[in-house]
Amino acid sequence: MINDKLPKIWYGGDYNPEQWDAPVWAEDERMFKLAGIDVATINVFSWALIQPSEDEYDFSGLDELMDRLYKNGTYVCLATGTGAHPAWMAHRYPEVTRVDVQGRKRKFGGRHNSNPNSQVYRKYAAKLAGKLAERYKDHPALVAWHISNEYGGYDYSEQSAAAFRVWLKERYGSLDALNKAWNTRFWGHTFYDWEEIVVPNELSEEWNGNRTNFQGISLDYRRFMSYSLLECYKIEKEAIREHSKGIPVTTNLMGFYPELDYFEWAKHMDIISWDNYPALDTPVSHTAMTHDLMRGLKNGQPFMLMEQTPSQQNWMPYNSLKRPGVMRLWSYQAVARGADTVLFFQLRRSIGACEKYHGAVIEHVGHEHTRVFRECAELGRELELLGDKLLDARSAAQIGIIYDWENRWALDLSSGPTIALDYVKEVHKYYNALYQQNIEADMIGVEENLSKYKIVIAPVLYMIKPGFAEKVEAFVKAGGTFVTTFFSGIVNENDLVTVGGYPGELRKVLGIWAEEIDALLPDMSNEIVMNGEWGALSGTYKCDLLCDLIHSEGAEVLAHYGADFYKGMPVLTANSFGEGKAYYVASSPEAGFLQSFLGNLCEENGIKPLVHAPEGIESVQRVKDGVSYLFLLNHQEGDMSADIGAEERTDLLTGKSFSGTAVVPGRGVLILSDKK
Ligand code: GLA
Repeated sequence: MINDKLPKIWYGGDYNPEQWDAPVWAEDERMFKLAGIDVATINVFSWALIQPSEDEYDFSGLDELMDRLYKNGTYVCLATGTGAHPAWMAHRYPEVTRVDVQGRKRKFGGRHNSNPNSQVYRKYAAKLAGKLAERYKDHPALVAWHISNEYGGYDYSEQSAAAFRVWLKERYGSLDALNKAWNTRFWGHTFYDWEEIVVPNELSEEWNGNRTNFQGISLDYRRFMSYSLLECYKIEKEAIREHSKGIPVTTNLMGFYPELDYFEWAKHMDIISWDNYPALDTPVSHTAMTHDLMRGLKNGQPFMLMEQTPSQQNWMPYNSLKRPGVMRLWSYQAVARGADTVLFFQLRRSIGACEKYHGAVIEHVGHEHTRVFRECAELGRELELLGDKLLDARSAAQIGIIYDWENRWALDLSSGPTIALDYVKEVHKYYNALYQQNIEADMIGVEENLSKYKIVIAPVLYMIKPGFAEKVEAFVKAGGTFVTTFFSGIVNENDLVTVGGYPGELRKVLGIWAEEIDALLPDMSNEIVMNGEWGALSGTYKCDLLCDLIHSEGAEVLAHYGADFYKGMPVLTANSFGEGKAYYVASSPEAGFLQSFLGNLCEENGIKPLVHAPEGIESVQRVKDGVSYLFLLNHQEGDMSADIGAEERTDLLTGKSFSGTAVVPGRGVLILSDKK
């Protein structure tokens, strides 16, 4: 449980009453009650209000707000407010603003605009967090700490350059080691003095986002920036912990956000929280995968849905409304996949600046007679009813899909073999093949203990970190099934190629050698031709993107290429290794192939679909104290049915019992417990 003061799924969200006058607050309180709101995230952007000048702090507004909320039965997720520094600070200490990738010194403006290596910023951010903790640590309303907001963005200032050099010294110990790791004899880059190293921005090595001349330094800069921002989080956390011991500390993450290595961040967070903003056309399986990744950051520990919109965003090109029922449906999707809170951005719509057209529980009209409010209030009632039943319930998946941020950085920075390779998309192809068959998977990092899974899938695992190949070997030897794909096992953690044949350190367990890698043009494809029938797989399937030209070194060849000069060479192999098997998929296959392929592996491993249901129904379960809660989410407008098996299950929301066929109303949800 996140905090036993509130033993239910928390309901509420970001609340900015400082943008309003007192009469409105009373209305807010009344409407929070109507909507069943019990948590407000406050103070997210209040630094400038609380600290009007360098040596002045004014907590009177916050004191009053905390007391007022508590009196009204609303608990507080208290933000430290450091996501945007005050204007006076930027004016007085220009070092607190960032230098961008083009080398331009920023002025005051926007948010998430602080130089993470400015000592002034760090000092005052920590001071503020400490003061808040000292003041509110025992406040009865306080249930969680929320540090800053959506950390992100990189800085290329002189302060960061100097800190980068210190970080590099620590990482490599000597310039010799650094020169080796970055392969600096290429293009005459040998460094003789640490001071010669400059940040890799558009004035030096990089252009167009992820294009770079030197993968080594660019990769390290991403590591370093993730570390620098994490340091900012950590100093605030330490300042809080000096005063406030037991209250959980978090910061809101952003799913697959590319710039920060969230597996590293998770080690310093008491609970993961994240902001979920899918568009109207985001595949629901992609959102499911993102929730699973957020759950995977802390080994399956439940997370907080910190933000979602009740209706629409404002910052997308097209900010469609969530259709009736969709807010509720997507809220339960989060809960189904591990969220123990349902929180919105925002509780009341602001009237000025860039978020005034962002959805809110309370709309500009100001009363409760709106579609959005009615839907919010309805969900509030249901969450009240669910009580603590689902809190802390876990996933029971037997398949782990690996995702790794450093691998992503290395792939994104890679010059060749193709610009079309999108790591997240390739991971999603595998995830989706299971999702469509109602088979659960966890999203896991490379540090995860693999032995708890029957199948581990590592799509495009280009970078192999120290010890990972041995871990895979041990996993397969002991009976595990490992799957990896084209362009895997190529480099070490410094993006240096492992010589002696691809897929490098994975070659032994896979029993193959990839001699060459062909990049197909956007309109080209090849064929996967099965060598006979294997379960649901037979005949020919399409593949594209990249084609590894592989040779078997002991692996069984299950399929071969159907076209081009490498027609007849293996494209799908299985290598028996100890008690288990390691599969290599040498190209990017069509969805139908992946469904059948992974379906076969599940069958061989005794992994069964949760239900049998047509496309449009999402199923997933959470398990607690031996009870399984099966969520059936209908993403279509019309009713749909699923075959849930003979066992009787009872819907937590309606009390109705089902066995055999369960009808899920259009955009509806069933939470079916198997408790006797
Ligand atoms: C983010 C931020 C919020 C708000 C919302 C709008 O998630 O954390 O402050 O800007 O986006 O969607």
